[in-house]
Amino acid sequence: MPVVPPPNEATERAESTGRAEQAARGEGKREYVQQMFSDIAPRYDLLNHVLSMNIDKAWRRKALRALQWTQRPAGSYLDLCAGTLDVGAALVKQPGFTGFVAGADFAVPMLRHGNGKASREVLAPVGADALALPFATASLDGAIVAFGIRNVADLDAGLREVHRVLKPRARFVILEFSTPPLAIVRTFYHLYFHHVLPRVGRLVSGHGSAYTYLPMSVSHFPTEETLAGHMRRAGFTTVTWERLTFGIAAIHVGTA
Ligand SMILES: C[S@@+](CC[C@H](N)C(=O)[O-])C[C@H]1O[C@@H](n2cnc3c(N)ncnc32)[C@H](O)[C@@H]1O
Repeated sequence: MPVVPPPNEATERAESTGRAEQAARGEGKREYVQQMFSDIAPRYDLLNHVLSMNIDKAWRRKALRALQWTQRPAGSYLDLCAGTLDVGAALVKQPGFTGFVAGADFAVPMLRHGNGKASREVLAPVGADALALPFATASLDGAIVAFGIRNVADLDAGLREVHRVLKPRARFVILEFSTPPLAIVRTFYHLYFHHVLPRVGRLVSGHGSAYTYLPMSVSHFPTEETLAGHMRRAGFTTVTWERLTFGIAAIHVGTA
């Protein structure tokens, strides 16, 4: 009878990295992403702010301003791929906001870890897939997605689904990582993103590949110009984008 050696840490890590590489390329992405975020949910917030050195907070604030919610302060908004509900909670806490936010995510443990960030009467966690949102056509006044669209297995279908649920002329804001255009910045960014971040992420989250998947998925994500093209093809008009912090991230805005 053949003897199967017990898996050791190095083997498990190599297998996990292999799955992350495949997911970043699009193979088995939905399953990998849903499981991975469910696994790292307890450590997600801590790692998010530590690994981004809190820069993400300023990016999120800027993305919220781009949503121009002040034009419809009593409206209904979607925080897509809401995770632990940081963006939705920041929106409902804006002075003058009197509307409602649905925070949709398919990794329910992520939503659970967002519990208590805001009252459920104004910020409702919704366990849902971005590709099949449980909202009526043309029912929402705006949508925002922070660091989520890159993880959606079918980008075009995801963008079309957001477009479907938005009212005509509602805004859609995408905040997402990007690749810096300047070679010197790219060198440091690459060193940090591909070498420091995966090690710290693995240590703190205990997950073998979540923070290896992150830089890989950014490498496979379209450039700003290409993403703008995807948005236009999904039906968005007046699509604009701007780079943040030397192009480490970008904000895209489109109108439904
Ligand atoms: C990097 S986290 C971002 C969370 C949050 N928006 C933030 O700014 O911290 C990405 C989130 O996208 C969610 N996600 C990825 N694909 C999804 C899909 N198809 N439907 C719903 N949620 C999805 C993941 O479960 C995860 O919680």
